[in-house]
Amino acid sequence: RDRYTGLINRYRDHLPVNDDTPVISLGEGNTPLIRLKNIPRLLGKDVDIYVKYEGLNPTGSFKDRGMTMAVTKAVEEGSNAIICASTGNTSAAAAAYAARAGITAFVIIPEGKIAMGKLAQAMMYGAVIMQIRGNFDQGMQLVKEVASQAPVTVVNSVNPYRLQGQKTASFEIVEELGRAPDYHCLPVGNAGNITAHWMGYSEYRKSGVVNAAPVMVGYQANGAAPFLRGAPVEDPETVATAIRIGNPQSWDKAWNVRKESGGWFDELTDQEILAAQKMLAEKEGVFCEPASAASIGGAMRDIKAGKIAEGSTVVCTLTGNGLKDPDTAIDQCRDELNKGSRMVTIDATLDAVRDAI
Ligand code: F0G
Repeated sequence: RDRYTGLINRYRDHLPVNDDTPVISLGEGNTPLIRLKNIPRLLGKDVDIYVKYEGLNPTGSFKDRGMTMAVTKAVEEGSNAIICASTGNTSAAAAAYAARAGITAFVIIPEGKIAMGKLAQAMMYGAVIMQIRGNFDQGMQLVKEVASQAPVTVVNSVNPYRLQGQKTASFEIVEELGRAPDYHCLPVGNAGNITAHWMGYSEYRKSGVVNAAPVMVGYQANGAAPFLRGAPVEDPETVATAIRIGNPQSWDKAWNVRKESGGWFDELTDQEILAAQKMLAEKEGVFCEPASAASIGGAMRDIKAGKIAEGSTVVCTLTGNGLKDPDTAIDQCRDELNKGSRMVTIDATLDAVRDAI
């Protein structure tokens, strides 16, 4: 079998590249689709739930799928600098792929509102980091303005190549299941990813690979839920900083996905998001970041309520790795740890260990 060399080489027939395109890849894509064992039983429902673990991409999030395409095309077009606004994952991916390509990445991030792992990544990969006293939406506005005046390529999901790369996740799912799932649940921020997944399913349907497409379901954090409000949210706030977005860039596209797929949007509280993150880690051994848990948390709620019918096959995208945000994870376990049942500090003696177990 050929060595796997990333999603552009794997899916070149479906992507806007040719034999001369200088592919910039870190081996992204080809992520595990994990069938849940314990959660369906705990829900007491006959459903098949899979999680697509995008946290196992090279920089730990689904952004790598889009970034390999965006940076490849930027280089092909002669660009030597890229720029993005980010809640953290896009900046990590942009920085890594720019490093790989030997070009400069400028990243604009909201000061104090990005998870520690993501900041560490942008620093290590050598991006030029601009922390703004403002949020993602303001950063996005600045990126658009500066890009109209300076020779830099915008690699946010307004760059159409990003969605082209990200649609390949749907190809992988269809190939692995042998069909499209009945429901596909994702966390929604800018709504680029839900749009990209729908593009992927639609392309496979049009080319006859499958004859159906899933119902697309998008979940937001209730403090940052413009799709539930029907309008942009001025001051988005949520523990799931990755989706702390009030003015989604793919607004019309996402409404269209909802309509075409017969899907819906819903919202979760921060507590629900964190509970789902913990449950997935504890019951299945899969550690995702808070934003990602909105997909499984929302799906579990809709399965319990019967909105997602028994007998269904459900795929939840876990957009980012749990290691991205160690602070939130540790905070979340602190109460339990303080009770002393799960973590004790003891002397380095056999007696002490024996007592503790
Ligand atoms: N999950 C994670 C972990 C994310 O980082 C993002 C977006 C989303 C979900 C939402 O995806 O925007 O396509 O609807 N993160 C962007 C960033 C905004 O800057 O890293 P979307």
